[in-house]
Amino acid sequence: MQREAMIREIVTYPDPILQRPTEKVTEFDKELRTLAADMFESMYTAIGIGLAAPQIGVSKRITVIDLSNQKNADEKIVLVNPEIIHKEGKQVAEEGCLSLPDIRDKVSRAAKVKVRAQDLEGKTIELEGTELLARAFQHEIDHLDGILFPWRLSALKRDLILRKIRKLQKSGEWK
Ligand code: NI
Repeated sequence: MQREAMIREIVTYPDPILQRPTEKVTEFDKELRTLAADMFESMYTAIGIGLAAPQIGVSKRITVIDLSNQKNADEKIVLVNPEIIHKEGKQVAEEGCLSLPDIRDKVSRAAKVKVRAQDLEGKTIELEGTELLARAFQHEIDHLDGILFPWRLSALKRDLILRKIRKLQKSGEWK
C-alpha cells in the first residue's frame, strides 16, 4: 500500500543545503516517487507554486511546480535533472521564495525558456514556458544549482536583503 504523502519542513536561508549544487538523480524508483509526492504536499501546505528538493533538505536534482496551486491536476509538473536548453527575451516581475519568507523583489528573467528534463520514470521530456511558468522554471532550476533569487539581483539590492535578514535573525523573527 502506498503511504500518504508527508509534509516536510521547509528549509530556509542560510541553510548551506540551499547554497550548493544538487546531485543528479540516477534511480527512478519508488523512493523518488515518494519524494515527489512529499514535495507537492509540502509545497501546497506552504502555499507555494514551486519547490526544489533542497528546500526540504534533500540535495537531489528534482523540482515540482504547480501554478494552479492544486486546482488543476494537469498543471502538476515534475522535473528530474532539468536543464534549460533555450532562453529568449526578458521579463521583470516580483519574485518570492519559500526559503526566504517575506522577502520579495523584482527579478529579471528570460521571457521564454525551454527545459529538458526526465519524468519520474526516467523518460526524457521537453517543456516550454512563458511568463510565470518560465519564471518558475528558472527560479527552481536555480535552486538545484544552489542559487537563490537575491543572487540574481544587483549587489546593492542583494546586500539590502541580506541586511534585512540579519536584522530579522537578531530579533528572532527569522524562521
Ligand atoms: Ni524558491
